[in-house]
Amino acid sequence: MARRLRLGVNVDHVATVRNARGGAHPDPLRAAAMIRDAGGDGITAHLREDRRHIRDHDVDRLKSEIDLPLNLEMGVTEEMLGIALRVLPHAACLVPERREERTTEHGLAVAGQEERMTPFVAKLKDAGIRVSLFVDPDPRQLLAASKVGADIVELHTGTYCEAEGAERQRELERIEAAARLTIELGLECHAGHGLDYATVAPIARLPAMVELNIGHFLVGEALFRGWHASIGEMRRLMDEARGLTL
Ligand code: PXP
Repeated sequence: MARRLRLGVNVDHVATVRNARGGAHPDPLRAAAMIRDAGGDGITAHLREDRRHIRDHDVDRLKSEIDLPLNLEMGVTEEMLGIALRVLPHAACLVPERREERTTEHGLAVAGQEERMTPFVAKLKDAGIRVSLFVDPDPRQLLAASKVGADIVELHTGTYCEAEGAERQRELERIEAAARLTIELGLECHAGHGLDYATVAPIARLPAMVELNIGHFLVGEALFRGWHASIGEMRRLMDEARGLTL
């Protein structure tokens, strides 16, 4: 259990700021290099259908110019499949996508879509891409993820992060049970969405956990403290939760 968690940092919202003025600054690639130097273990980027933040060119550059594994978040569409097969990221995290949502509000409905998901997952895996499915902490979705051949599930922590008091505790228990189930199913367990300094420890502590993907909070914090302090503090909290610091 004393395994150090991997921290993937999502650079989408560096691109959000850049796109607000239509130029090239601030560059998500420059952020990715600083994230690497600050101790990030991977870069995550979500190429949305409407390209509201990360754009195709960013994905190409993140893959070819940054020596950290790239985790490409993408919808389950033929367009995204073609891009993933061309770029060959280290991992593809499949997410549901609706244009009208502000962020990815729910996990992917894998259960009931096995017929569509199985060949999609297989094409990515055949190209050597690790496949992760972003799911709610629901045993039905985990069983389906295993059935369609996923390597990884990323448990959606958004509801846990937004809830308070007893409701947060209930949601944490759902995540704990889901994380235990990943071990039985032979799935690698990741988690993400909405995590910050106040919510990370109970998730980082789960024995099955291997990787956390965190974006919005770390980008915001980096504005005030710089990347080293923003990521360093998250790293410290994750290590402490796993008993890796004194
Ligand atoms: N994981 C997935 C699959 C996501 O869609 C997102 C948000 O893009 C994140 C992690 C990171 O969430 P946040 O930006 O709230 O930390």
